[in-house]
Amino acid sequence: MIYPRIIAHRCGGALTPENTLAGLRLAARLGCRGVEFDAMLAADGVPVLIHDETLERTTAGRGAVADMSSAQLARLDAGGRHHPAFAVEPVPTLDEALQLCAALGLWANVEIKPSAGREAETGRVVARHAAAATGKLLLSSFSSAALCAAAAEAAQLPRAILVEAIPPDWRERVAAAGALAVHSAARALTAEALAAVRAAGLPLACYTVNRRDDAARLFAMGVSAVFTDRPDLWPAAEM
Ligand code: G3P
Ligand code: MG
Repeated sequence: MIYPRIIAHRCGGALTPENTLAGLRLAARLGCRGVEFDAMLAADGVPVLIHDETLERTTAGRGAVADMSSAQLARLDAGGRHHPAFAVEPVPTLDEALQLCAALGLWANVEIKPSAGREAETGRVVARHAAAATGKLLLSSFSSAALCAAAAEAAQLPRAILVEAIPPDWRERVAAAGALAVHSAARALTAEALAAVRAAGLPLACYTVNRRDDAARLFAMGVSAVFTDRPDLWPAAEM
């Protein structure tokens, strides 16, 4: 599997409100070839782009994402907390984000981000929506239950396990999810763990890398891609 080297984190990184369509548009304008975003289920089962289980940090709303319908979320301001200039940005649906990625030619890492207790359901539903998309994408999740449910729903979609430090049972988790890659935290990466993943023939992508020198060191070690909040640090030719 060929990864874009530089993957804009939460759509457009720190330059735009996270997990918004404005972020995807900016990532494309910067020359990014790939983006990552988080997909969670609204109360009506529609997958939407949001990171936290609660609304307060990134939107003008209050309470749990899982208690709000997708129609309510579509009316929320999900941009004004980043900057008033983005106050018109709603919480997008996964379908809207995937359609825009396809139109912009962006590869998408859809991170399945279940709210507590909805792991398998979220994996199933996100995979169903992703399977209907036309663009190139990859699914990942910290939740093994979500990733395995996604595999059962749409086995043809590429998947990566998502971890902080690479755990002792990473091979079992890769096998259970039928994963083709490993995503791990840059700060917790050891040369030994990277060598083991690479020896198994799997690419490794690291989050969240916001300095060019850190990324260069990781690429030199054999990391395939980095997730970054600062995609503006790289010229398009290096993405
Ligand atoms: O998918 C990589 C990265 O996004 C995982 O961490 O918390 O930003 O979703 P988080
Ligand atoms: Mg994420």
